[in-house]
Amino acid sequence: MFRTHTCGELRLSDVGKEIILSGWVQRTRDKGSLLWIDLRDRYGITQLMLEEGVSQQHLLEKARQLGREYVIRVKGRVTERSSKNPNIPTGEIEIMLDEIELLNASKLPPFTIEDKTDGGDELRMKYRYLDLRRNPLKQNLALRHKLALETRNYLDSKGFYEIETPYLIKSTPEGARDFVVPSRMNPGEFYALPQSPQTFKQILMVAGYDRYFQIVRCFRDEDLRADRQPEFTQIDCEMAFVTQEDVINTFEGMAHFLFEKVKGVDVGRFERMDYATAMKLYGSDKPDIRFGMQFVEMKDLVKNKGFGLFDEAEIIVGINAAGCSEYTRKQLDALTEFVKKPQIGAKGLVYVKYNADGTFKSSVDKYFNEAELKVWANRFDARPGDLMLLLSGNTENTRKQLSELRLEIGNQLGLRDPQMFKPLWVTDFPLLEWDETSQRFYAMHHPFTSPKPEDFHLLESDPGKVRANAYDMVINGVEVGGGSIRIHDRDLQKKMFSLLGFTDEEAQNQFGFLMNAFEFGAPPHGGIALGFDRLTALIAGYDSIRDFIAFPKNNSGRDVMIDSPSIIAQQQLDELFLKVNMPQK
Ligand code: AMO
Repeated sequence: MFRTHTCGELRLSDVGKEIILSGWVQRTRDKGSLLWIDLRDRYGITQLMLEEGVSQQHLLEKARQLGREYVIRVKGRVTERSSKNPNIPTGEIEIMLDEIELLNASKLPPFTIEDKTDGGDELRMKYRYLDLRRNPLKQNLALRHKLALETRNYLDSKGFYEIETPYLIKSTPEGARDFVVPSRMNPGEFYALPQSPQTFKQILMVAGYDRYFQIVRCFRDEDLRADRQPEFTQIDCEMAFVTQEDVINTFEGMAHFLFEKVKGVDVGRFERMDYATAMKLYGSDKPDIRFGMQFVEMKDLVKNKGFGLFDEAEIIVGINAAGCSEYTRKQLDALTEFVKKPQIGAKGLVYVKYNADGTFKSSVDKYFNEAELKVWANRFDARPGDLMLLLSGNTENTRKQLSELRLEIGNQLGLRDPQMFKPLWVTDFPLLEWDETSQRFYAMHHPFTSPKPEDFHLLESDPGKVRANAYDMVINGVEVGGGSIRIHDRDLQKKMFSLLGFTDEEAQNQFGFLMNAFEFGAPPHGGIALGFDRLTALIAGYDSIRDFIAFPKNNSGRDVMIDSPSIIAQQQLDELFLKVNMPQK
């Protein structure tokens, strides 16, 4: 028998029991007359002990040979500790050993396997199996497991079927780049890995499976960030005979259920905000509404006062950082540097300090007098002690830049508490997005999203103005999920493809299967997909999803543990009729 108990299980009430444990040696402490071993498994740590003169000599010698991460099986008796450790659940007991069996030795691990590790990112990724032995990662994966389980429970209780869809599918030019897989049996042809099961779930609706879900891997060959992995998991769902309101209610219900089950938190009612308002008040389609600091537009007050930057600008917009009038020159310079970073790209930052004594000090004192600044303060609803920060330029970029600044100030002022959750539905997204470079429209969500019926008449005359029946679930500024009511009419879908610049032939070629299906009784339908990795990280209070995935990729899309992607043998290439042209270094 390898064990009677786990290393996280024994308590004072077990004192006196003869037990067997198996696990990894976290560390040994040898005080000469006393020797302790911390034995670890998935469940916790139990302290083992040997005593000179009491324990058998050969056991002490054996214990002294044990290195970190050796795998052992021990037998002994539970005793009460004289000096207790209140920080761990097994901290009141220890095991007086009678037997030690070495199950396997270990090389010295390249970093310490404790809650706080000295290992850098790459090293931890390379030895992921060692990193996964650490508590923080174990807790993350336990949370992920529980969330998946409760997701299934909730959706099952609402009548959803979990149905698998294929991973080897067809490449399409929309969305992100596809990962492609060559087909040996069909020389010169390729499958693509799905960016999402979108078309399959719609076809399941045509097939009559009117409530579908899947916890499913998706693949996107796009640039990586903290909240993006090339393969990630969605809770993907679709429903037939529903309105937008039905979908929103079902998944607001799911979010409530999950937060309650795994976190014991009531996230409250979701706020609603349309896209246009989100952009105007927060400069973002995923605003963090844990704090206010809404945008204030200033154009009518500040134009034509001789300040060139404002005079040329399409928009002048600012935020009020309450209580920040005491910011030093250095702090203000740092904020200016922040907005000027290439990733943000503002030209400069205008500040107005509304001093505690009621006077003003601004970076535009040359152009605006105290009386004018007082009018600004009224518009900002600013009080003495506050700091107004303004940016100007073209509307789209300036709003984005100010959104970044707002989040930065939110961070600096501690307004973004990771343990507080403020959920929101953003609705009424534009259907289409104009791309200057390619001079064409792209679908903002995807080409299967239905326009709002009240905007149908604009499809011909002003397609850029058409709003979609699309919605995003946003929590704490994170886009947790997105979905829409779909087009279920062949002609409307055809029209959509033509707006996106597809010829009839191209549309038939890429999406003929879906349009054909629509000719066989497609019900009205809609759905959503939640980013499962993002949801898990968010619930745990983290921005990065990497440590919520057992085996993630690094920032260059590499799995450094298995060293992939990698070159394949010439014979494999030949079988696939592939020729590799290496890029010139
Ligand atoms: P969308 O593309 O918005 O919609 O994706 C849904 C959610 O998936 C998560 N997500 C990601 N998570 C980690 N890494 C990534 N690279 C990544 N990309 C997306 C986000 C996002 O909100 N088929 C549609 C859904 C639908 O219309 O039903 C879709 O995939 O949290």
